[in-house]
Amino acid sequence: MCGIVGYIGQDNALDYLINSLRVLEYRGYDSSGVAIYSPDGHIKIIKAKGKLNNLIELTARNPQKGKIGIGHTRWATQGIPSDINAHPHASSDSEVAIVHNGIINNFHELKEELIKNFKITFASDTDSEVIAHLLGLELKAGFSLKNSMLNIINKIKGSYALAAISKNDPNTIILTCHDAPIVIGIGKEKDLFCASDSAALLQYTDQIIRLKDRQVAELKLNGEYLVFDGKTQKQITPQIQVLNADPVSLDKAGYKHFLLKEINEQPAIIRKLLAHHVKDNLKIEFAELKPELLKDINRILICGCGTAFYAGMIGKLALETLAKIPVEIEFASELLAREILVDEKTLIIAISQSGETADTLLAVKTALKKGAKLLAITNRSDSTLSALAEGGNILIQAGIEVSVAATKSFTAQMLCLYLLAINLAEIHNSLPSEKLNWLKNELRYLPQIMEQTLARSETYREKILPYAQQKAFVFLGRNFNYPIALEGALKFKELTYIQTTGYAAGEMKHGPIATIDETTPTLSILLPGSTYHKTLHNCIEAKTRGAPSLGVIDDLDKSARQELDTVFEVPALPFSEEYKEFQDFFSPFISVLPLQLIAYYLAEHLGKDVDQPRNLAKSVTVE
Ligand code: G6P
Repeated sequence: MCGIVGYIGQDNALDYLINSLRVLEYRGYDSSGVAIYSPDGHIKIIKAKGKLNNLIELTARNPQKGKIGIGHTRWATQGIPSDINAHPHASSDSEVAIVHNGIINNFHELKEELIKNFKITFASDTDSEVIAHLLGLELKAGFSLKNSMLNIINKIKGSYALAAISKNDPNTIILTCHDAPIVIGIGKEKDLFCASDSAALLQYTDQIIRLKDRQVAELKLNGEYLVFDGKTQKQITPQIQVLNADPVSLDKAGYKHFLLKEINEQPAIIRKLLAHHVKDNLKIEFAELKPELLKDINRILICGCGTAFYAGMIGKLALETLAKIPVEIEFASELLAREILVDEKTLIIAISQSGETADTLLAVKTALKKGAKLLAITNRSDSTLSALAEGGNILIQAGIEVSVAATKSFTAQMLCLYLLAINLAEIHNSLPSEKLNWLKNELRYLPQIMEQTLARSETYREKILPYAQQKAFVFLGRNFNYPIALEGALKFKELTYIQTTGYAAGEMKHGPIATIDETTPTLSILLPGSTYHKTLHNCIEAKTRGAPSLGVIDDLDKSARQELDTVFEVPALPFSEEYKEFQDFFSPFISVLPLQLIAYYLAEHLGKDVDQPRNLAKSVTVE
């Protein structure tokens, strides 16, 4: 979604802004812009609808010199994507320019007041523009830029990360935030940066300060940075954090798309996580968790959005199967729609790749107020979620995920949940140690089998392309592979834009079957396990009604292979008669791979924007 960047230092701000905006492209946006404080004493604003290249072309035609600047990528919420609605926005007298992420909830009232009492004419349809006018009025009344910001945060309601520059105070960038992240980057040459996503700063510094809600920061041209508490208005000493993200994640490493690179990174991430958490004596360690966090709980509530939610669905199955603790799972947005019933014996597990998804953060904050314990599974140690879960963080260590469609974060989240389930089973003595040891041993085969599966990419590509002209697909699965049917369908629709629906295979007969005919290919996940035969029946029922039948099967399969039109074969997982109950336990790690790949290859074939599908944002920072 929207992204903010800023630079103040002795170099040309524009170069830094464009480079940083380039990094933020992955978040999804529909316009971009910059404001530069120019040596002639004016603020120059340049903005353009569409891709960042449009802005780059404009700035190349009209290069702006200046040491201070702010920039923005906008994902439209209030007001259509257009040049005018793009940020930065300026006050009527062009005294101040702002960039904003978030939503100002009381903007209608504020706008009315500004029009009625101050005869202000609005240039855009955005909520953000009120902030520029409010600041402009404060500056006119004689307040410094910092004090103007401190004053207006008492007037605006909603979520915001804000950066502003002003002619009035030309050596300064002012920042503030509430329920939306913004960080300061401390450069080596007394230069300072800011960004709503620290990924934008990786190329310049690893020293950051995360602003807390309603703090106001002043970045100075001489390299000084001052942080104030918005309530007391007193200066505070901020905590400097060291960024540990790997800049290599921002490189395609020879792959055509970030998505393909990230799909292929999965075995290495799983291997790394296993090495980190499973010790040589097969002991599972979560060194980052406070020991008391996992004790004395009688209920678990998982929440997340999108792909993170589907990882949570599989986590629920793993946790209930092993730890025998009742687990509820809910979309964060739905949790927010009702009373969240939790207490101090409830562990809320919030899953979020970015750690910045608004719904997830709000649900977590509500649960925390009611006394629940929080465990966060995230990819970003510098995120708001991670800060909320101090002593309760499991990092998925997947490296920055650039492609909007989540892939590597999904399998990494699943693995963390599996390890947590085994660990909880040990703590709660819910299963004999031989069983748990067998499971831990089995986990070690996963990276290799995942690699063998990915090595079949080309075959999967060849097999899916004949279906390129289909208008709708249905994905079916049961038990551990029901969430995989949902996640596979999500990947398929977000990348190819083809209507794709995932169902619990057993639900087929209760409605979805009415949509099935020869134009609706049905893809079933048919890996060995207790539900294999039932799922195969559902698949045949669809086939009987004319649906082309596709399936994910393993190399040893005999029955489904004969029934299906197209099979995506994966290597068989090790099988033990003694531990037959766990036959499909690990299959999601393998079955999801062909589904990610067929979505990628078909989208690529159809000429879609694979890394940044239309209308989607990587991190959804508004409710
Ligand atoms: C957006 C992304 C999805 C992601 C979801 C949750 O919708 O496009 O890929 O799964 O947000 O994001 P999170 O960062 O909380 O995992």
